[in-house]
Amino acid sequence: MEKQRGYVMKIPLMLEKIMFGFVESQVLFVCHELKLFDCLIDEGPSTLDQISNHLKLPEASLERLLICAHCINLLEKEGNKYKINPEWAPFLSSKSNHYCGERFGHYFKTSYQIFGYLLSAIRENKQQWEKIGRNAKAINDINSIYTDFIYVNEQSIEAFLSTMWASGYTDSIDLCEKFSFAGYKKLIDLGGASGSFAVAAMHKNPNLDAIIVDYPQVRPYAEAKLKEHHLESRAYFYEGDIFRDALPAGDVYSIGYLLSDWPESMCVSLIQKTYARLPTNGLIVILEKLFDEDKSGPYLTAMLNLTMLFEMQGKHGSASDYVNWLEKAGFMDCQVIPSSGEKHMIIGVKKNLR
Ligand SMILES: C[S@@+](CC[C@H](N)C(=O)[O-])C[C@H]1O[C@@H](n2cnc3c(N)ncnc32)[C@H](O)[C@@H]1O
Repeated sequence: MEKQRGYVMKIPLMLEKIMFGFVESQVLFVCHELKLFDCLIDEGPSTLDQISNHLKLPEASLERLLICAHCINLLEKEGNKYKINPEWAPFLSSKSNHYCGERFGHYFKTSYQIFGYLLSAIRENKQQWEKIGRNAKAINDINSIYTDFIYVNEQSIEAFLSTMWASGYTDSIDLCEKFSFAGYKKLIDLGGASGSFAVAAMHKNPNLDAIIVDYPQVRPYAEAKLKEHHLESRAYFYEGDIFRDALPAGDVYSIGYLLSDWPESMCVSLIQKTYARLPTNGLIVILEKLFDEDKSGPYLTAMLNLTMLFEMQGKHGSASDYVNWLEKAGFMDCQVIPSSGEKHMIIGVKKNLR
């Protein structure tokens, strides 16, 4: 493009925001780490001086942070007092059911550091864990990513599982309103975590029982959820490695937010294993965030798909990518059932082949 003389072309605001995106993320994560949001919710609108005293932070540096946080709408101002943006408060307050803090913490402590190596990850088409001092051996044994990095202590297990529940339960209720499992008896929720899909499906389908299959570390959390929902008599937790161990018998197998974690070869073999285990007319249910067919978005799927290059070894797909996998394994009558949220459902049926 020709350079124009004597005319100052202003950088478009969106481009400027992208350029400073690294600052915006850090402002959010650091406010969260400092417990600024909880402080403003507990104490109400507060001056710089009050916040500085409460959080025991130097006023001068804190002021710079607050100005930025106000500029990017995390905070609002009433005179010289800062308060939390009321629309976002449910996502920022640790006492709210919609709290996103576990995700902020994970992105701050892990993803943010590793994203410093995006350039080499793209050039080499591989994860870069060793660059941030993580145990490369464990990462190479991909099955140990959960056991070595996520299920390492109670706090981390709880944070991960509550994020999974929060990002799956409401959409699961919606999906079970849209598709009935009437006539089916046993749902096997593979990698079911604390059971957000199994619980929603059992509530909506009174004749359906469930088995949640996951790593042993997940057991107490899944059992607590079943108890909380009065479903202990209809469901139980089964400790197992879904790739290596035999699967319990059922007539519906659900696989939620799991195929996007693992390399295609593992996903395809899990789908085949499920097909082999199902009776005729049995169902497979895949639950995923989906790409649009032309992979132009949505935004969240695009961002997570890039994150997956580092964090796990899977990738996100469009509905027809998953339907292709199902059809190749022999499933028929595939249906895509979108939820009004982010988690959508793809269903395939095992038909009797004559
Ligand atoms: C991203 S979470 C999704 C949880 C849940 N299905 C949902 O939709 O919210 C993936 C789950 O699969 C479990 N998982 C991953 N690999 C597994 C394996 N090899 N055997 C058993 N569970 C596994 C993890 O422990 C975790 O609970």
